[in-house]
Amino acid sequence: MVWALFISAVLGYLIGSVNTSIVLSKLKKNDIRKHGSGNAGATNTLRVMGKTAAAFVLLGDALKAVVSILLAWLVAYLFRQGPDIVAYCKYIAALTTVLGHNFPVFFGFRGGKGILTSVAVMFMLDWRIALIVLFVGVMLIVLTRYVSLGSLAGCALYPLFALAFYSSEPLLYKKMQIVLALLLGLLGIWRHKSNIKKLLAGTESKIGEKAKQ
Ligand code: G3P
Repeated sequence: MVWALFISAVLGYLIGSVNTSIVLSKLKKNDIRKHGSGNAGATNTLRVMGKTAAAFVLLGDALKAVVSILLAWLVAYLFRQGPDIVAYCKYIAALTTVLGHNFPVFFGFRGGKGILTSVAVMFMLDWRIALIVLFVGVMLIVLTRYVSLGSLAGCALYPLFALAFYSSEPLLYKKMQIVLALLLGLLGIWRHKSNIKKLLAGTESKIGEKAKQ
């Protein structure tokens, strides 16, 4: 059991550390973290490198959560674990994938904010919660043109919906999804500290706009 959890965690972290926007910018002999908001994510890639690059980042950063969670399931299966440990392996891989994205071992531990990867995690673990959270987040982005506002709303809503869907769940391992949602939500909000300051000061850039100083 311990091995299955450990391997899932390490694989998740390593896969998460492959931050698509950094890889893409480095392929172009540049570093996304030196431009725009300085964040290694899809929003800043759109700002700095354009739509096609942003679409690649969107796909890459979401796909790595899918791969990590599928691998965690496979690891637990190979170790012949029961449904509770399978779930825990998926949760730990979900968390370490986002941690890898935010603090990538391959890129000096300076990565992104983990929102896209967290959305993909949500879809892998409970598509109902993912759909609701994504809908509200996207609506906010469409209405305000602030991606960070949609991201922050998603971070706040994920644990709330996890609580609503799983608090009365009799099986402990299913209930534990609330803890994962809380950790990912808090991590996402903390990673948006600079965006919160800019939103309050009215200096946050809107989607596609060049970063304001
Ligand atoms: O998911 C990141 C987004 O919410 C903010 O990105 O580049 O504006 O800091 P950025």
